[in-house]
Amino acid sequence: MRNIAMNALTTEEINTILQNIESAEKSSVLGYFSRPFRVYHGDRALFIKLYFPVNNQEYISRIIRNHNDYVRELRFAGIKIPETIILSRKSNRKHQLVIIQDSFRDDELLRNRILSEDLEGVKQLCTMVFDEMLQFREKRNKDIDIGFHPTLRNYCVHENKLWFFDTFPPMLMNQKALNRLIIKMSPHGGFLRKIIPPRLINRVTDEYYNLDTMFTGVVGSCCRLRPHDSEAILEFSREYANNSPLITDDEKKSILRLLVRPPQLSGIWILVRKLSRNTGRPNVSIPTSS
Ligand SMILES: Nc1ncnc2c1ncn2[C@@H]1O[C@H](COP(=O)(O)OP(=O)(O)O)[C@@H](O)[C@H]1O
Ligand SMILES: [Mg+2]
Repeated sequence: MRNIAMNALTTEEINTILQNIESAEKSSVLGYFSRPFRVYHGDRALFIKLYFPVNNQEYISRIIRNHNDYVRELRFAGIKIPETIILSRKSNRKHQLVIIQDSFRDDELLRNRILSEDLEGVKQLCTMVFDEMLQFREKRNKDIDIGFHPTLRNYCVHENKLWFFDTFPPMLMNQKALNRLIIKMSPHGGFLRKIIPPRLINRVTDEYYNLDTMFTGVVGSCCRLRPHDSEAILEFSREYANNSPLITDDEKKSILRLLVRPPQLSGIWILVRKLSRNTGRPNVSIPTSS
């Protein structure tokens, strides 16, 4: 297959791709902000992500700048991201963001790898993600506000390395500003605004800013995908956290407390998944007697 460290697309190529996507129908069911789909430009597989059109062009320009700076900062912190282009186009009288990105194969998606590996393989994959979360924290620019969502659905494993592909919403901002951006760019934003106080969005975005909830996010997903292995996954994850020199004692306490049993999806997450008709696995039930 093509090497993923691809060349930049020319303007001409981008135009051709945009003209051709109208007919593309095959779409992934795992997205929230967009329904990403794969297209081919010659033999080059690309993912296209179309976002909710908005009126304000200046707002869109700001997001584009933030996105490109965000990708740069993630790469600076050691995260591998495929070639990713963001642009805006007219859609009726509104402005629509479009992301064009090098595509990975479905069998490379981390979520699929977690399903197909044996338990040892799952532990190795978890270690790769945990290592990356800690590396990000060590290497990132400490003078800026930045969020990061290292969840299974946002990664693939290509040539034995993790590649991170979810660059939207860009998170080069503090949590409050991100919460606002999420509501504004959400296809269900109007509805969410009516029923959810902004601070409840924190339940979702905490995971992008705090190490302990990052852990619960990843471990919770693994347990939902492998309910029969959930005890082993929990034990392994607790051990990882406990042994890591990069995690403070206070953080260890918090992480160990969160990983006593399979972490549950919060109610707001379940609602968000329902709204976006997002397929996912249910919470692992916790026996009440033990
Ligand atoms: N570059 C890519 N290569 C392969 N699959 C991708 C790529 N980008 C997105 N996908 C698929 O689409 C899903 C959603 O994409 P993502 O960028 O994470 O959007 P969202 O913000 O909606 O989560 C991913 O979980 C994955 O299944
Ligand atoms: Mg995602």
